[in-house]
Amino acid sequence: MYHALPPDPTLSKPAPYREIESQLRGLIEGERNGIANAANFSALLFDRLEGLNWAGFYFMDREQGGLVVGPFQGKPACIRIAVGRGVCGTAVAERRSIVVPDVNAFAGHIACDAASRSEIVVPLFRGDDVIGVLDLDSGRTNRFDEDDRVGLERLARIFVEGSDI
Ligand code: SME
Repeated sequence: MYHALPPDPTLSKPAPYREIESQLRGLIEGERNGIANAANFSALLFDRLEGLNWAGFYFMDREQGGLVVGPFQGKPACIRIAVGRGVCGTAVAERRSIVVPDVNAFAGHIACDAASRSEIVVPLFRGDDVIGVLDLDSGRTNRFDEDDRVGLERLARIFVEGSDI
């Protein structure tokens, strides 16, 4: 069961990820449908992390190639992103998480929501294959740091392991 707790400002900074991890495990326990789990995972992140204006997924399209948008929270987003394009396509091509402190300084950034100022994209690995990305945007510059990268990479692994996607 998912119980939303009010944020506790006395907790040290990585604590939100420990809470979110147990909430994510509760949400996906007993359910392997990848779309259902991705939808609830994006809603959980949007609800629990402050300062986001978009949180969601792009998945590799096995037939057409490239990334196609998956479940998300936020404004409608661009549907398809080629590998190597934008922050999402670059994370796939380079097989690593990318933290963008200021999207205006990232050549090739694809603006889906004009309000976005910073972004983090975490690739989803199934074995050696990148099967998609988790993408979070914020209306503040410098919203994401190493704690977010480590925390989100861990959550992404839990999601992939617990889902047929
Ligand atoms: N900014 C992303 C595109 C996706 S939206 O942020 C939801 C990019 O440059 O790949």
